[in-house]
Amino acid sequence: MIPHAHFGERLASVYDNMYPYIEIDTQHAVELFTQLCPPPARVLELGVGTGRVALPLAELGYRVHGIDGSPAMLERLRARDPDGRVTTQLADFTTTTSGDQYDLVVVLLNTFFSAVTKDQQLSCLRHVREQLAPSGRFVVEVFEPTPFHSQTQPSFSVRHLGDQGIMIDMLSVDRAQQLMVGAHTILDGGKPETVQHVLRYAFPFELDLLAEACGLQLEHRWGGFAREPFGPTSHRHVSVYSGADDR
Ligand SMILES: C[S@@+](CC[C@H](N)C(=O)[O-])C[C@H]1O[C@@H](n2cnc3c(N)ncnc32)[C@H](O)[C@@H]1O
Repeated sequence: MIPHAHFGERLASVYDNMYPYIEIDTQHAVELFTQLCPPPARVLELGVGTGRVALPLAELGYRVHGIDGSPAMLERLRARDPDGRVTTQLADFTTTTSGDQYDLVVVLLNTFFSAVTKDQQLSCLRHVREQLAPSGRFVVEVFEPTPFHSQTQPSFSVRHLGDQGIMIDMLSVDRAQQLMVGAHTILDGGKPETVQHVLRYAFPFELDLLAEACGLQLEHRWGGFAREPFGPTSHRHVSVYSGADDR
């Protein structure tokens, strides 16, 4: 497993139950992608995971390639995709490219923040630029960090893992490093286990500057995949970049 991919066997085993209300969001994401870039375009997903979005895209006729650093997550994707419609690559997307170009490159559900230093984030964006075909688009979905950045004490929350059990999440923030450390304790009848998850968050304008430094220019920013306006109360953003020299 790539060290900062975090998604070992234990987290992978419950991943598909961690976001029980995400189905409608997935539909909106797929709709947005079809509007930005209709099939049969070539799509690259960084941190493809178990194929939540990659599989519906492949069903629509996109040619989808997914990079992921976790063998356990890719194994689950393959089990859901016996015909191999999504091609996969076990690699670190901050240091490796697919060697190909794509009309759409996407990195979803805060996965961009799993690059835990500014240099890793820059390296990832440079690789994205290299892999973007002329007129291609790059879509990032990440949380808006302000509420977390002002957190001074660890916070706790509990989520249901379907009928399987619960997960207790403890979240602490190192404001100086813009790091968020999550400790997920899984209670599902097996041996309780705690898995750490580190993210390095960036503010929206910071992300735009990093992207610009790598030849990517912001085109749209929404508060979600249904194209909600992005504003002061938005909890996340969906940002679309294109190659700066495409303009
Ligand atoms: C939150 S999951 C998202 C999975 C999928 N994209 C989705 O939206 O459901 C993050 C995924 O990114 C992978 N990942 C995180 N950092 C990575 C890196 N540097 N290189 C490759 N994969 C990475 C993890 O292994 C995990 O499968």
